[in-house]
Amino acid sequence: MSTNPFFYGRTVSGSAFIDREEEITEITSSLKRGQSVILFSPRRYGKTSLIKQVFADLESNGLLVFYLDLYRITSLERFAAYYSQTVLSSLRSGADKIFSLVKALLPSLKPKLTYTEPNLPSIELELTLEALRKQSTLPEMFDFLEKYCNKKKLRGCVVFDEFQEISGFDVDRRLEREMRSAIQHHTSVSYAFLGSKMHLMRELFRDKNRPFYNFGKHVELGTIDAKHWIPFIKAGLKNTGSSFTSEECRRIIVLTGGHPYYTQMICSELWEQAVHCGAADVGDLIDGALQAVFARENHAFIEIWDALSPAERRLLCALAEKEDTALFATEFLQQYRLGAASSVQRVVERLSKKGIIDRTGKGYRIIDPVFTHWIMREDQPEL
Ligand SMILES: Nc1ncnc2c1ncn2[C@@H]1O[C@H](COP(=O)(O)OP(=O)(O)OP(=O)(O)O)[C@@H](O)[C@H]1O
Ligand SMILES: [Mg+2]
Repeated sequence: MSTNPFFYGRTVSGSAFIDREEEITEITSSLKRGQSVILFSPRRYGKTSLIKQVFADLESNGLLVFYLDLYRITSLERFAAYYSQTVLSSLRSGADKIFSLVKALLPSLKPKLTYTEPNLPSIELELTLEALRKQSTLPEMFDFLEKYCNKKKLRGCVVFDEFQEISGFDVDRRLEREMRSAIQHHTSVSYAFLGSKMHLMRELFRDKNRPFYNFGKHVELGTIDAKHWIPFIKAGLKNTGSSFTSEECRRIIVLTGGHPYYTQMICSELWEQAVHCGAADVGDLIDGALQAVFARENHAFIEIWDALSPAERRLLCALAEKEDTALFATEFLQQYRLGAASSVQRVVERLSKKGIIDRTGKGYRIIDPVFTHWIMREDQPEL
């Protein structure tokens, strides 16, 4: 029996990774020529998986690549320690050589060469709060890699995943300012900033008053088109004992809107059900897989729903039925008993900040397609 070919909840690569050729080419060529990139999308659209594909290409072209996931970083000291350790531990020279370089390039960080085991040297920097308060510390830390790459005639690339998390601890925006002013002069190192909290990413990179305004090329990742999903799903479900037509596969995409994580999740459920139920009706199998996904996500959705005000819930119900609509039109406000346009505006802002809705061409939409189905499910009480 073959194994389930659908994966969700971790980065995907190889045959589980589809599409994104254009984005990979665009991002890879930008980073190679020293152009920094800002890659953003809602959660679980595939940013990390995509950047890992880009990495493979950059590394095979001889670039030094460094990956940092800032999701759990909650203070400037931890950021500085994480950044410097990631950079120092990945350099390709011997420990003694790196140590001399670090001493020359980062003198105020008082580097120490320590051995955790006889043959395992590591360089420790003094990155206490006091040291970080000095004006020179952060620029020196960021400039180190540029100087190292210049000296070694190499190119480097640093990826900051979940970059918006710095907003949580960088309250005086010092890191934002000092990082921008240091790295804007770097010519041998390019940077990729990834983020999934759309409103925070927009504030960081699209607000004229913020240091990172106009920094780098913006790439907004969308969902994956049905034309890429259908052959992938069909091939993945081929050996389950049930046969799925293109139209049946398309129904899955209609349910998920091509959302990468949910499409893989539903298909994974479908694969399990098809294998265990034998030749059941394909329509029933798809319904069953959707119910299984609801059951899996129910707890998280209830938590989100419970924390919403009645006005927020009413707006979500309206958007679940009619996304991308002229939200503030009198007719729409009346049809869904949403109240005055000014109060709806405040509700929209709150839901955007919570990462539940996002702007579209004409209006707004609920970001999570399965949450949309969950809101519209038949047993939902009338509001
Ligand atoms: N190119 C792809 N082809 C197929 N499935 C994909 C692709 N990219 C992502 N996925 C699916 O989406 C899931 C989430 O991917 P990934 O972790 O890369 O997204 P992310 O945007 O970094 O998420 P987060 O915002 O949670 O960090 C994967 O586990 C996989 O199921
Ligand atoms: Mg990610």
